[in-house]
Amino acid sequence: RKLVGKLTTGCTEFDEMMGGGVETQAITELYGEFGSGKTQLAHQLAVNVQMDREHGGLDGSVIIIDTENTFRPERIAQMVKGLSEKYGMDLDPKEFLQNIHVARAYNSNHQMLLVESATDLANELKEMGKPVRLLIVDSLLAHFRAEYVGRGTLADRQQKLNKHMHSLLRFGDLFNACVVVTNQVMAKPDAFFGDPTRPVGGHVVGHTATFRLYLRKSKGDKRIVRLVDSPNLPEGEAVIAVTTAGLTD
Ligand code: GTP
Ligand code: MG
Repeated sequence: RKLVGKLTTGCTEFDEMMGGGVETQAITELYGEFGSGKTQLAHQLAVNVQMDREHGGLDGSVIIIDTENTFRPERIAQMVKGLSEKYGMDLDPKEFLQNIHVARAYNSNHQMLLVESATDLANELKEMGKPVRLLIVDSLLAHFRAEYVGRGTLADRQQKLNKHMHSLLRFGDLFNACVVVTNQVMAKPDAFFGDPTRPVGGHVVGHTATFRLYLRKSKGDKRIVRLVDSPNLPEGEAVIAVTTAGLTD
């Protein structure tokens, strides 16, 4: 078994809560309502993973399975500029963009197929000395939810989703990569009692995601990240900020 790698989020509190950062060989689920910062965090990790280990990165490249067409190259460039300033380095946004391989998924079958393509690509990149250390699926369930509507379809959906989750886990193990998926929240019918929100995807996602992080909006550009589920770490919360330079303390 390969040694687990840790990828910095760029935020001190957040990294500490995660025991150093986002782990390889694991699925980390980011869930929260619209605008809570899931896609922003995914972009930031796609930048950070390319940094060397001294700067919290994994010297790696990235594959993004984009289901909602929310990948923004301009945003990556801003974040690279942010890191250049933070570390006093002269980082080239073009180089960072070249190491981010984005595939648009058109439906749930295509999304599942793209994990196979990602495996082929990751094998090629490994030989080229650009190992993939991060696979992002943003968002995990949008297609599944749109295609499987109504009670009678739930069992089929969950079975397919289970297969998808396991091929993602396998990817993480095979390439010693972080797997990061985003997920939406669904209002509880009995919102009056307890936590008004929970992630969608039921037990399948709940049991296969290694780490579950709940993001919510706070004042201004602040966001609160809560570690809800982890095999080895205590629950906790961290405050982060979404700024022009990217995610910061
Ligand atoms: P859904 O995908 O809709 O569920 O939301 P999400 O959780 O992915 O939200 P996302 O990460 O897209 O966060 C959107 C928020 O991030 C915006 O409301 C802004 O507050 C912030 N944001 C997005 N882009 C920028 C940017 O270029 N600069 C700055 N400063 N903030 C940004
Ligand atoms: Mg998003």
